[in-house]
Amino acid sequence: MRVVAGLCLLIALPLAAQHEKEGEKSKHPFIGDPKAIEAGKKLFANGCGACHGADGQGGRGPNLRAQVFWHPLDDDTLYKAIQKGIGGAMPAANLPEDQAWQVVAFVRSLTAPAFENAPPGDAQAGEKLFWGSAGCSNCHGIRGKGGKLGPDLSTVGAMRAMPDLRDAIVDPDADGAQGYRAVTVKLKNGQTLKGVARNRTNYSLQLQDGQGKLHLISMEDVVEMNVGRGSPMPKDYAKKLTKEQINDLVSYLSRQSVRPAEVAKK
Ligand code: HEC
Ligand code: HEC
Repeated sequence: MRVVAGLCLLIALPLAAQHEKEGEKSKHPFIGDPKAIEAGKKLFANGCGACHGADGQGGRGPNLRAQVFWHPLDDDTLYKAIQKGIGGAMPAANLPEDQAWQVVAFVRSLTAPAFENAPPGDAQAGEKLFWGSAGCSNCHGIRGKGGKLGPDLSTVGAMRAMPDLRDAIVDPDADGAQGYRAVTVKLKNGQTLKGVARNRTNYSLQLQDGQGKLHLISMEDVVEMNVGRGSPMPKDYAKKLTKEQINDLVSYLSRQSVRPAEVAKK
């Protein structure tokens, strides 16, 4: 096995050098390709996960999903970093060229818009679930249809990376859910309002109800208030939905972008 890897390295290095010489910003065909990303994910879990976390969330090595803390590397630099290692801290992977590019495709998919990284899954099946049995459209709107309690998802595929979409469904409390805490208030006039707290100060509360209507409430009128912890999204999708169904939903959401279809295909 070691001999094979060594041979591949001999072949891979001159190729990498050639990339370098041309000085081109690589757009390797594996980048954004769902099969390559899936294959890269498995390779990553085996060869990189021990240090970077199985999903790139960080550990001994840095978090590869926290784009803000991370200067994005271009594809060729990423390829080289993986193959040759970084300083003494990160060992060289020495993978066959195709496998190294699969890993690059996966690492890229951790931060690039989901839109550019078609995840595995059946978008049409996801669409059915979204507007049907999964109940997503009770709270979320897409292009003017659907509910208003949760954020509009018309452009979510262009705004979020694939793992963020997945986490939003299976682990909704993870991102803090600022501006969307579930809230119930009892008013002095006997009325009870339920919805999400969009804005809250010591003196007032902006409550958005299930119909999307905003209520500006003065805290002087409030008898009792309950603010939920975390996201108002149901917490049991990870149990209620199968892995395939979650893939299908992520695939459907990843396609939500207002960019025209011709641009989208590139
Ligand atoms: C033994 C632990 C270890 C393993 C295994 C490992 N890494 Fe790293 N990785 C690190 C450390 C530590 C750093 C930070 C190095 C530094 O900045 O000096 C790092 C940095 C990185 C960076 C960021 C480079 C930058 O400049 O922002 C990327 C991308 C990366 N690793 C990808 C991978 C991939 C892909 C694999 C698997 C092929 C992998 N790593 C395997 C420990 C590891
Ligand atoms: C009870 C209402 C409700 C239901 C049902 C619901 N959501 Fe949400 N969702 C929310 C709220 C509120 C937020 C904003 C707070 C947060 O990030 O958790 C949100 C956030 C999200 C986000 C993150 C949006 C962003 O901009 O980052 C995604 C993606 C999402 N939901 C997808 C779904 C999917 C897919 C389903 C169905 C499987 C679903 N939601 C069902 C209320 C709901």
